[in-house]
Amino acid sequence: MQEALTFFSLFILYTVPGTSGQILCPDPTEIFPCTCSHSGTEFTANVDCSEATSSDDIYSAFNDVAWPVQNLRQFLLEGNSDVSVLPEGAFGDISFEEIVVFQTSVASLHSTALLPSKDRLWRLTILESSLEEFPWEILPQLINLTHIYMSGNALTSLPPLQSASLQHLSLWKNVISHVEAGWSLPNLRSLSLSYNHALDVPTGFFIDMGKLEEFYCTSCALGPTLSTKSLEFRSATMKVINIDSNSISTLDADAITGLQPNTFLYFRGNEIRELTEVSFRPMLEVLSVGTGHIDIGANPVKCDCSIAWVVLNPSFLGSVWGRCTDGTYFQDLDPIIFEDCARSEHTSVDDYSTCIDSRMK
Ligand SMILES: *[C@@H]1O[C@H](CO)[C@@H](O)[C@H](O)[C@H]1NC(C)=O
Repeated sequence: MQEALTFFSLFILYTVPGTSGQILCPDPTEIFPCTCSHSGTEFTANVDCSEATSSDDIYSAFNDVAWPVQNLRQFLLEGNSDVSVLPEGAFGDISFEEIVVFQTSVASLHSTALLPSKDRLWRLTILESSLEEFPWEILPQLINLTHIYMSGNALTSLPPLQSASLQHLSLWKNVISHVEAGWSLPNLRSLSLSYNHALDVPTGFFIDMGKLEEFYCTSCALGPTLSTKSLEFRSATMKVINIDSNSISTLDADAITGLQPNTFLYFRGNEIRELTEVSFRPMLEVLSVGTGHIDIGANPVKCDCSIAWVVLNPSFLGSVWGRCTDGTYFQDLDPIIFEDCARSEHTSVDDYSTCIDSRMK
């Protein structure tokens, strides 16, 4: 009896690490090759299944083992090329605050792998993996989810996403071409769709994104023409719009609307030749009120009479950054040279181009 008690005490001591007094992880051999750990001060555990040789290893670690605690902190799968799916019921009844899948071959994950975490999951990271499909339809149920990071995957299309909680959505460097209309992300603050090289943003896409602050769509192939109402922002706190490197050569009237006085619009590396008044004036009228600006650097902008309306208005000129094809910064253009453009009735830009060129020398 004495011996049995001693053995029992040792057993307790051995399996209760730290000071919490609570067992948080199962016997390591039961969940191998997954591992469970926690620091002495935390009351919740992290599970790392990076050494899993198949989905079954993960499935059985959660489904065939009695876990002392159901609410864990983080699930991690990193640098793994043997797991291609997180299948139905992958985590049993275990829930997580955070799921991190990084540099793996995971191509899909079943909705039931996430649903046990629906009230707790706040950050979902699936980066540089092979993700082709995601159960977007359960997004409204994931009520604590604020961050989704899914860049560097193989997603091809997106249905209408709906979430009242989501604040950050990063989907850059996938192969998304088809985006359905009807998105409702009223608390979204940043959205990155950059480097999806054939993206088609539907009309009215931003209607229910009233808190958006940052939109990134660098190299989304939005050009050559950005037509009227292509990008209609609806947020009073819009800070950054980045549509660099989209091969845009024509900006129709009201192609980009909803800029705020302090919005920075990055438009670098496109093919704009002319700052047409019909397209650019409504934007500059807003930006010149605040600290906002359009950065149109690395576009082949001709500084002929077509730019006179900007040069002759100091507050417009202060709100558009860039250079003429000859390297002159817009800010260094001499308004006096452009005064004649305003007076004249000539409509041919090229007449003035030559005239201005000779005056500037
Ligand atoms: C929801 O997410 C926050 C972090 O944004 C976290 O601190 C909190 O514990 C989560 N809620 C629940 C119920 O787990």
